[in-house]
Amino acid sequence: MVPMTRTLHVSRDLYANGQRFLAGGVSSDARRTAGVPLYVDRAQGARLWDVDGNSYVDYVLGQGPALLGHCPAPVVAAIADQAARGMVYSAQHAAEVRVAERICAMVPSAERVRFNTVGSEAVHGALRLARGYTGRSKILKFEGHYHGWLDPVLYSVHPAVDAAGPAQAPVAVPGTAGQQPGHSDDLIVCPWNDLETLTGLMARHAGQIAAVIAEPVLCNTGAISPDPGYLEAVRRLCDEHGTLLIFDEIITGFRLAPGGAQERFGITPDLSVFGKAMAGGMQVSALVGRAAVMDHISTGKVAHAGTFNSQPVGIAAAEATLRILDERREEVYGTLYERGEELMEGLRAAAAKTGVPMLVDGPGPVFQTYFTDAPAVRDYRDFAATDRAKMARLQAALLDRGVNMVPRGLWFMSTAHTTADVDATVDAFAGALRDL
Ligand SMILES: Cc1ncc(COP(=O)(O)O)c(C=O)c1O
Repeated sequence: MVPMTRTLHVSRDLYANGQRFLAGGVSSDARRTAGVPLYVDRAQGARLWDVDGNSYVDYVLGQGPALLGHCPAPVVAAIADQAARGMVYSAQHAAEVRVAERICAMVPSAERVRFNTVGSEAVHGALRLARGYTGRSKILKFEGHYHGWLDPVLYSVHPAVDAAGPAQAPVAVPGTAGQQPGHSDDLIVCPWNDLETLTGLMARHAGQIAAVIAEPVLCNTGAISPDPGYLEAVRRLCDEHGTLLIFDEIITGFRLAPGGAQERFGITPDLSVFGKAMAGGMQVSALVGRAAVMDHISTGKVAHAGTFNSQPVGIAAAEATLRILDERREEVYGTLYERGEELMEGLRAAAAKTGVPMLVDGPGPVFQTYFTDAPAVRDYRDFAATDRAKMARLQAALLDRGVNMVPRGLWFMSTAHTTADVDATVDAFAGALRDL
């Protein structure tokens, strides 16, 4: 059912023309590829169709948002209904109060909510609020963690290892030319899953660190869960030092559990940011947290604004999405974990049969394939030691066989993926491994 070789005539023409008008031919660096980018014509459920008529089982899901699959009917209906009543108010409306109330009921750390449009913006708000609340300037982030593309945090995401300093004392490596110098003075970079180094860094900078920010499951560098007890220890250290703990749940939020990773691991941060899966594909993000901290926004002490905040079409989509995630939680999360586990098992078996050393690991609703013979990947340096060039080749071979995964080897599951999709994907995967 999946083509071995795709025809890409229309895509190629679009790319040639697109390069004349779009810088680099794309609208986000994440879409740059060695070959022709994917030009999507339409998406439905767990499938994409490109402009050449090729069809793909989709595990990119818009980089995570389409948790219920593409175009879930109740979300589409809510969007259409709201669009006819107004697409932008830049004023308060009833649905945002209802959605904020539901978030506060679903997410353990959420006592107050502020909406934004995208994840990078919500992270920006969280860091400003942490600094405003504590009166401190330093932020501690973990190597390999991604918190958006803005200057203060675009450091040490996937740095060249020979420029990144010793594993236990990483330096802050800027992510791009043009980044305002000086941000790294206030940034401390720590290896993930290394409690001893974290304890030492927090002691060395005692009284100066406003916040520790982390992806509670690291999903931008593999899919790396915290070691048992690690998040508990991070929470304890933050409390000892009067430092706020921020969970960046832009990927894990509403994906690992109705209340995100904080519910799954039972650790409550002071602030968290959500986006992606919360609005079924529309662009809505949220900064949430403890009332005592969030109230620094409401007093006007810490500025927070945005023309499109709580934009009514996005909020309508969030309301329809969160209602499903909350009210049908057993079915939704049962499917996500079950189907994810089935696919992970299938990919492991396919790799074993082909004799390719491969690790397939992650919580299930999101997981990672790595070319490595290591038994585990626990931090960025482990990830950097895997064969990433081969993973990029696998992704291209999979596309030719009708499967779309995130090029670095990440797979997002949705409730729309069926057992038949999983079976077709495992077949394609075995074929792609043979192609390599
Ligand atoms: C963990 C995490 N934080 C923040 C962001 C930034 O979100 P956005 O791309 O919506 O600005 C992302 C995006 O992938 C992310 O994965």
